[in-house]
Amino acid sequence: MIEIIDEQNIAPPLDAKIRAMLCVCFPEWAEVFACRRVWHNTPPIFTVLLREDGEIAAHVAVVVRTITTTWNWRYNVASIQGVSVVPEKRGNRIGRELLDVTVNEIKRRGFFFAILFCKESLVPYYISLGWQLADDSMVMWNNRDLPIAMRSNCPMYKELTDVSLPEGPLDVHSPTL
Ligand SMILES: CC(C)(COP(=O)(O)OP(=O)(O)OC[C@H]1O[C@@H](n2cnc3c(N)ncnc32)[C@H](O)[C@@H]1OP(=O)(O)O)[C@@H](O)C(=O)NCCC(=O)NCCS
Repeated sequence: MIEIIDEQNIAPPLDAKIRAMLCVCFPEWAEVFACRRVWHNTPPIFTVLLREDGEIAAHVAVVVRTITTTWNWRYNVASIQGVSVVPEKRGNRIGRELLDVTVNEIKRRGFFFAILFCKESLVPYYISLGWQLADDSMVMWNNRDLPIAMRSNCPMYKELTDVSLPEGPLDVHSPTL
């Protein structure tokens, strides 16, 4: 069953279960997920889970980020992270299905754009799902002096209405920055 869960409804036992699943799916980040699911001080607004027989089979989390353009226009965007399916269930279109549910929920919540940063090898996968590759001028910032190292990650976006993503350099950062 696919569930959409607001962050305030994720109690510590479920949080621990999600983190254990993320440790398996992202062994390179296991040390982080062993302690927390939050990156750059921004907790998800909601998480989409596929649970089968009480176990988490797939996960996507959505955080709010702000894009600031060179004209100093600010847009809140929904940023997708932790897209993962447990190894034994991969290749069955579960990832696609979960992303579809996630994007529909993002749209329903009124966002104009969804963004994500992915490994280069997955760019064709996201393109097949209607995502577009942004150029290198979409940069993630931790604070005004510190761009987050996203060198190995490709910035991608999806337009959810007829509004186009603004052109030119785009700073992605937490809404409070
Ligand atoms: C990426 C992931 C979520 C896809 O889930 P899934 O349910 O297997 O995806 P789908 O069945 O919808 O699509 C499978 C397709 O994904 C693509 N894909 C999956 N992993 C890939 C990889 N590492 N490199 C390139 N393409 C990949 C392939 O096109 C694959 O097609 P195939 O089955 O014909 O080979 C899953 O492989 C996963 O959890 N990977 C580890 C965590 C991760 O890297 N997440 C992405 C973070 S951006």
